[in-house]
Amino acid sequence: MAASSRATPDTLPAWQTLKHHAETLQHVHLKTLFGTEPSRWESFTRQVAGLTLDLSKQRWDDDTLEHLLALAEEAGVPGAIEALLSGKRVNVSENRPALHTALRLPADATLEVEGDDVVTDVHESLAQMDRLVQRLHAGQWRGATGKPIRHVVNLGVGGSDLGPLMVTHALADYQPEDIHPLEVHFASTMDGSQLADYLARFNPETTLFVLSSKSFTTIDTLSNANTARDWLIGRLSKHGEVPSATPVSAELIIRQHFIGVSASPDKMTEWGITPDHQLMFWEWVGGRYSLWGTIGLPIALVVGMDNFRELLAGAHAMDRHFQEAPLADNLPVLLGLAGIWNVNFLDIRAHSILPYDGRLEYFAAYLEQLEMESNGKSVTSQGQAVNYSTCPVLWGQLGPNAQHAFYQLLHQGTQPVVCDFIAPLKRYDEVDDQDTRRHLKAQHRLALANCFAQSRVLMLGDDAIDDDGPRPEHKRYRGNQPSTTVLLDKLTPSTLGSLIALYEHKVFVQAVIWDINPFDQWGVELGKQIATDTQKIIDHQGDLTRMDASTRRLIEAFWAAEQE
Ligand code: F6P
Repeated sequence: MAASSRATPDTLPAWQTLKHHAETLQHVHLKTLFGTEPSRWESFTRQVAGLTLDLSKQRWDDDTLEHLLALAEEAGVPGAIEALLSGKRVNVSENRPALHTALRLPADATLEVEGDDVVTDVHESLAQMDRLVQRLHAGQWRGATGKPIRHVVNLGVGGSDLGPLMVTHALADYQPEDIHPLEVHFASTMDGSQLADYLARFNPETTLFVLSSKSFTTIDTLSNANTARDWLIGRLSKHGEVPSATPVSAELIIRQHFIGVSASPDKMTEWGITPDHQLMFWEWVGGRYSLWGTIGLPIALVVGMDNFRELLAGAHAMDRHFQEAPLADNLPVLLGLAGIWNVNFLDIRAHSILPYDGRLEYFAAYLEQLEMESNGKSVTSQGQAVNYSTCPVLWGQLGPNAQHAFYQLLHQGTQPVVCDFIAPLKRYDEVDDQDTRRHLKAQHRLALANCFAQSRVLMLGDDAIDDDGPRPEHKRYRGNQPSTTVLLDKLTPSTLGSLIALYEHKVFVQAVIWDINPFDQWGVELGKQIATDTQKIIDHQGDLTRMDASTRRLIEAFWAAEQE
């Protein structure tokens, strides 16, 4: 990530200082830190763009933070932030910028990258998306038989699925009124099971598919797209089975039932998508960073363009903060440094994401890709093997549900785990019915009480209980599990934009310190290659004997099942 002359992080003076510092702090329990430093909230909590970031329950002290900030300086974080935001080729293995932040620049901003006026291009593409959204919201987009579209199914995977899926779910309350009723759905899996469910239920005459794929070569998405295309043609063309449908040509069906979103217009055209129904984006937008542009079409269809622009504005507020705030007050820097401290100095390599709001159901899945596909690397940007840990194993689900699933391990297991608790402060103000509002607000208080209780017990263990009489070992809690709490003033398009950008930049800060490239994903390529090879064998067009004993028997079991 950083300049070619850079030393690896473990040779930097601050890294060495932190190593020594950790030897002492390793053995200090979080409850002791709270006992000796009553002002930890003031020291370790910051508020920006509708977010409160509470890092006081991390297992660190003022000295730790000072050394970590020195590490950030020595690793060149300030220069790297500038390089990222100004469009330098920070994605070194693919030799291009990573300019997702340009997608949320306001129209009056200026950013010229290698001779291109990026802001004008971005806003033209937003305007094109806007026009398309208006047509669908007005019920003016008609299927091949003349009926307005009722269901939109996004076919995409990874970054072409998870971001839009997560945001549409989170902001479902923000649907504009008075629009033609439209439901947005997602199908990503290559096995076709999600798609099959929709095909069984939806009327092909009123169903539109959005093919979202940066590369437009992803087999998962293309296989779903081919199934959808054949379903539409089979049901709507002359020999179709829908009695009410007027017979129509395959060409018209593809034209009226598919929108393509990709960085590869040629491939969209080759597949059959009419140029008018192609939304473009650029190679310099990474897949997992792409929800801010045309890949966000499903989001705009659910919340409307005004709210989509609010989402962008919230992210932009975080971008500016990231660019302008001193390191010691910079939320993404602080969040990134807490992670470095946990992974590299406290040896905590498991990280759980726990939102306490059902609307954030897909937030953990989204972060799993953002963090692990970005920073799950073991060579430096110069191609040297690293000899320090990078991205931790990250997983999560809704906190209240996780309490009844894997919290047992957090509280009494043998693994140290760091947790991120995420919750909105305000909720349900817009519910009209007073009684229902009262009940739901009580439920929100219940959720927050649980959220705060869990991080407290993880921190203090048995000491969280006033009356801590003698108890058998299996009922004891050791505590000392660090956590971060992120509070949103309210879950709005704007605060959600800030929250996502906070995590994007946190990932970047960590990548800079680890000296890895967070913008490529070469680790997924071999699997794709071998799957193509294996598919030939499964289809009886390859040599089974080349396979190892286990894979051979698995394939034979599949063949046997096919014969039954
Ligand atoms: O295989 C990994 C990956 O390339 C992700 O990085 C990406 O988000 C996903 O596949 C989908 O890629 P595409 O948008 O090109 O279909």
